[in-house]
Amino acid sequence: MTDLSGKRVFVTGGSTGIGLAVALGAAERGATVAICARRPDKLSEVLAELREISPDSRSYVVDLADFNHLEKFALGVDNDLGGIDVLINNAGTPKRRTVMNLTTETVEAVMSLNYASPVRLMHALLPRFIDRGADIINISSVAARLSPPAEAVYAASNAALTAWSESMRVDLGIASHDVRVHVVNPGVFDTEPFNLPDNDPFTSPIEKAPVSEIVGPILDLIGNDKFEIYVPSWFEDVVAKKFPDTTAFLAGSISWARGQASA
Ligand SMILES: NC(=O)c1ccc[n+]([C@@H]2O[C@H](COP(=O)([O-])OP(=O)(O)OC[C@H]3O[C@@H](n4cnc5c(N)ncnc54)[C@H](OP(=O)(O)O)[C@@H]3O)[C@@H](O)[C@H]2O)c1
Repeated sequence: MTDLSGKRVFVTGGSTGIGLAVALGAAERGATVAICARRPDKLSEVLAELREISPDSRSYVVDLADFNHLEKFALGVDNDLGGIDVLINNAGTPKRRTVMNLTTETVEAVMSLNYASPVRLMHALLPRFIDRGADIINISSVAARLSPPAEAVYAASNAALTAWSESMRVDLGIASHDVRVHVVNPGVFDTEPFNLPDNDPFTSPIEKAPVSEIVGPILDLIGNDKFEIYVPSWFEDVVAKKFPDTTAFLAGSISWARGQASA
């Protein structure tokens, strides 16, 4: 287990679900933690819990899809913490809807929150990260690699974040900067978004795992050179089977989804 004593960890969307579990896990390992989200009530509850473990922890009410002042916000959190050592871009929204039923507005909203917003945070903080070193952990999704049915914009937003992360790691590596970029691909975890309105029903037979199971794998990336992980790890084998023959993989997805619909 990585000891995070003295580390300052900023988790976006740390008020529920995976972000909440990771924020508490980081505090338990000794980190000072900052979290942000839109709902003040949830944030206050979590901040009280965090401060029992890590008294200097902080929370911020912010809408990360509102790009006005986002860079200023990121630099403000960095100043308050005395320097972010670990940025965990976790805030995001699902969207289960077929391409035929997606509107342009929905596509833009999902891309803004899941892709453009973390890019803005990373860009704002990058000069400081390059000066002193840092870990950036981008919470993507297995959807980014597997393009599941009725998840086109969700998959695309996460795939964009993953591609950005890959290229960012290459650019930083070529320049020998001490900033480690990581990608986490969660499978199916038991969180609020499965009950959100404005989404098609969740029909996958994959059992939802408790968020406690993803905390260790995420936090163990800190200070580690590993780029990408899948949780659970068996998704890595599924992805490995996709790339040699994407045509066959997508045909398999269609027949699987048809089977689900007629079951
Ligand atoms: N759960 C899964 O099975 C799963 C699978 C693959 C990937 N993921 C990814 O894991 C991440 C966390 O998901 P989760 O399942 O834990 O979801 P969640 O419980 O809904 O958590 C999302 C967090 O982000 C915050 N948030 C949402 N919109 C925001 C906005 N516009 N501005 C600021 N904060 C915002 C939410 O708080 P507020 O609503 O109060 O703002 C909440 O704290 C997401 O990026 C998701 O795509 C999850």
